Amino acid sequence: MLKTDTKTIYGDFQTPPSLAELMMDILDTLDFSPNCIIEPTCGVGEILMKADNRFHPKLSFGVEINPEYVNTFKAKINGKSSYIILNGSIFDYLITIEKQSKSFETILLVGNPPWVTNSEIGAMNGNNLPRKYNIKGLKGIDAITGKSNFDIGEYILWKLIEIFHQKNCVFAFLCKTIVARNLLKLLWDNAIQFKDASIYPIDSKKYFNAAVDACFFVINFSTKLKKQTCCIFNSIENRVLDKKYGYFNQMIINNYDFFSSHNYFGTSDYIWRNGVKHDCSKVMELKKTSNEYINGYGEIVNIESDLIFPLYKSSDLSKHFPAIKKYVIITQKSVGEDTSYIKYQYPSAWLYLNKYYNSFVERKSSIYKNKPPFSIFSIGEYSFSPYKIAISSLYKKILFHKISSIENKIIMVDDTCNFISCYSSEEADFVHSLLSSDEVCGYLNSVIFWDNKRPITIELLNRLDLLKVSIKLGLENMYHSFVRKNKVTKKNNNIQLNLF
Ligand SMILES: C[S@@+](CC[C@H](N)C(=O)[O-])C[C@H]1O[C@@H](n2cnc3c(N)ncnc32)[C@H](O)[C@@H]1O
Repeated sequence: MLKTDTKTIYGDFQTPPSLAELMMDILDTLDFSPNCIIEPTCGVGEILMKADNRFHPKLSFGVEINPEYVNTFKAKINGKSSYIILNGSIFDYLITIEKQSKSFETILLVGNPPWVTNSEIGAMNGNNLPRKYNIKGLKGIDAITGKSNFDIGEYILWKLIEIFHQKNCVFAFLCKTIVARNLLKLLWDNAIQFKDASIYPIDSKKYFNAAVDACFFVINFSTKLKKQTCCIFNSIENRVLDKKYGYFNQMIINNYDFFSSHNYFGTSDYIWRNGVKHDCSKVMELKKTSNEYINGYGEIVNIESDLIFPLYKSSDLSKHFPAIKKYVIITQKSVGEDTSYIKYQYPSAWLYLNKYYNSFVERKSSIYKNKPPFSIFSIGEYSFSPYKIAISSLYKKILFHKISSIENKIIMVDDTCNFISCYSSEEADFVHSLLSSDEVCGYLNSVIFWDNKRPITIELLNRLDLLKVSIKLGLENMYHSFVRKNKVTKKNNNIQLNLF
């Protein structure tokens, strides 16, 4: 294994003293004096020593997997009796930690657990993983399509919260901001009470040379209150209150104060979908040059045009005036449809697809397992509606597009876009105007986390109640008349599960 791989597997980025000092300055303001301090992954001890010097506890207890770091740390503390430093994996020491801290009334849990995910560790054949790690009880398609890719630090912190949250304690950890948010949601979903929670963003490039949103996350469990907000400061250095995260109907809200004045949360009559998914772009996506289609291997594709549709991708929808740059082969009209009809109706397409049979078989996602050859996903009657309102899920802007047909063909969007189906130009204009209103923009900005990889999800969009928006804008009657005529609103369909 490469040295850099080992560093990654163990999330081995030691905290610089200046950052550890800033952490202590914040903890100093909490009016909390711990008689026991615990650091679950203490490295060479920068944070634990700073905390020990600041708070003078009876016990400072650290665990670290790397024996060299333990030796370095022990050399630094030079036999000071208030320290216990153990060499081993935190996954094996959770019970020991619980026992060691039992007799102490006030406990500070502090540190910087590894910022690495189980799949990154798996890709390097590492084994720095807990034995059982399905902590969120992930199920179904969400788990299959990637959400089970969790952060090891998140696991460690959640385990510690499970053990300690009922005690008089404070949690104070550097972690990815997404980890802090996931933990907050878990706390709120589980109705775990605390006095207050705060997030102080850190410049991870400056302190760790890492390109990830990270923060100092503090939860004060010294008093048990039903707290449903978390203070977000502008930075660990300046500490000016920027906004508050909140919790509403099992959803974590990005800007709770703004949400309160733009609350259009509800269920949408219009069903939001992901665009078409095929995971075989070199074969399925084509460019058009004058009269010829060219695939991703640079080959001319001469197949029946009935199966070829114009395609918008996220990058196209990020622009105010998108242009068609790609086309996509659509092999099915609904998920799971038998594809053998292609052989008889579209023999050239059948030959073409079979030439690349292996590329389809080799698709990794389990959604294609036991499905007809050349299957695609997120396809149905809704994909062929004459109008769509679509938005990129990846780009960090709220820009909805009304899209229809070109060259007498319905325009498809790919799986990085979300859309709803409309059945007349008037309906599409109406829905587009609702979605482009300041009311919707305000609501979406209050619930979207722009630092997520895919900030605009169909879960979020399906929780926007356009009826409430039309009531606010005095357009309720028009709304009802369009919903009644639409063939694929929720009244007629089950909601599609998110594919991601
Ligand atoms: C991000 S570094 C932080 C080190 C130290 N807490 C600090 O802030 O300077 C993460 C540390 O966790 C240690 N580590 C990784 N996996 C561990 C495990 N399973 N048990 C204990 N320590 C672990 C690494 O060796 C590394 O020292």
